[in-house]
Amino acid sequence: SFGPNIFVESQWLLFKAAIDSHLTKTWSASPIINGQAIHDSSVDGKAQKLDSHTVRAPWNHEVIAGDVQYANADLARQAIDAAVAGQSAWQAVPAAKRAAILRKTADLYEENYAELMALCQVEAGKTMQDSIDEIKEAVDFCRFYADEAERLDAKAHEFTDLSGKQSRQVYKARGTFVCISPWNFPLAIYTGQIVAALAAGNTVVAKPAEQTSLIAHFGAQLMYQAGVPVEALQFVTGAGEVGGALTAADNLSGVIFTGSTQTAQRINQSLNDHAQASGELPVFIAETGGQNAMIVDSTALPEQVVRDAVLSAFGSAGQRCSACRILCVQEEVADELIELLQGNMAELVVGNPLYAATDVGPVIDNDAKQGLEAHIERMVAEPTASILAQTPMSASSVVSQEQSTFVLPTAIEVKSIDVIGGEHFGPILHVLRYQARDLNKLIDAINATGFGLTLGIHSRIENIVEHIERRAFVGNTYVNRNQIGAVVNVQPFGGCGLSGTGPKAGGPHYVARLMQLSSESVAT
Ligand code: SER
Repeated sequence: SFGPNIFVESQWLLFKAAIDSHLTKTWSASPIINGQAIHDSSVDGKAQKLDSHTVRAPWNHEVIAGDVQYANADLARQAIDAAVAGQSAWQAVPAAKRAAILRKTADLYEENYAELMALCQVEAGKTMQDSIDEIKEAVDFCRFYADEAERLDAKAHEFTDLSGKQSRQVYKARGTFVCISPWNFPLAIYTGQIVAALAAGNTVVAKPAEQTSLIAHFGAQLMYQAGVPVEALQFVTGAGEVGGALTAADNLSGVIFTGSTQTAQRINQSLNDHAQASGELPVFIAETGGQNAMIVDSTALPEQVVRDAVLSAFGSAGQRCSACRILCVQEEVADELIELLQGNMAELVVGNPLYAATDVGPVIDNDAKQGLEAHIERMVAEPTASILAQTPMSASSVVSQEQSTFVLPTAIEVKSIDVIGGEHFGPILHVLRYQARDLNKLIDAINATGFGLTLGIHSRIENIVEHIERRAFVGNTYVNRNQIGAVVNVQPFGGCGLSGTGPKAGGPHYVARLMQLSSESVAT
């Protein structure tokens, strides 16, 4: 299991009762343009109802979370135009006031934690602990980027030439940003993108992943309630076509995207095409996937390794871009570690995320489940791979496998990284043995995947840790600990290569990248 429960019983009962009071609700979401909820759109001059989609809990499809009306390309363009029109007013709001609104958003998220937790659990299938972490991270983003808005505003660099003439550099807003966020952090990353852009004085068109529009819609309502002007934040629901229409607009200043590498490449292409037409290349920040390894040498502490690997691979049902996908173990300790891994995995509780004891909940939807199970089947058929462990559903779980999207946590021994074939976004851990003399070859093979997001290192030899750190091509390295759960303003997070463009979320360069540095020369 992932570790001790953080609650004492009396606190727990109060906390759970608050969340439960929301579990019977159903929510709804539709696009919001200039503060108006949109339910229909004009097609060929006639008003037509927007397509409505029922949202079901991934852990039990009989539980309905609510319904979402999807925007279309026409509404996407309207949302962009509304945000562009709102730019000058929002940019004129002093940084201290923008920061105060974002801090108020954080307060409102905390006050509404019970409903946000219920949404995380029902719509995204998150466990109790993951839902708590989700809200904490969203709140951290609001407060940190509020601080950044004030820091950058105060930071005018003064320069003086030999004759005493002065010039200075100041940070200014850029314009309208499209924020496209993923379902795996439906509140934290969604909020982080938006509040960073707002902190910079930019207006935003937000399009959350279609799987988690209800959480995002509630988050947007809390932002408006905190004082974000309706012109500054436009909210657009829908799937890839709507995102495509947003990123093809020719009056954008930037796109912030978290999701797959393939979608990031498509957006990049669309922005390049746009640049050829309009002459301006918008800023593009992408956080994408990973093929993350943990390298364990023979000096590592076995129990600690296994605890950290299991949390990194199976926490959040493996649906983190930072998750450990390949546990690379030095041959001398491999048998012992595999045995401990099997024992630890047998203890995992897989089931209904509403139960406090659950470690691993469902994956997000049927497509995800089918893709992951197909990968497991391919590995079973692969002569050089073998299944080491697979945790069954917990006996106390009331959900049926057919009416839900659970994928059993699975560990698979492989003989090479190539056989894995890319990122598999779920609770599957590959285990690879290596010889100490081949450490460099191993690091090179990890680099050769092209991804560069997280790397775990377990070793008690400082030189080895430093050597691996120097040779590996990754954004975030974690030594003798788990490799997930980067904390805002503690571990700025983001990768390189196929894993993203930077700057790192929750770090000192993020809001600055959303602004332009302008030089002013003053005549004396
Ligand atoms: N920031 C998350 C983590 O560190 C991944 O997106 O796990």
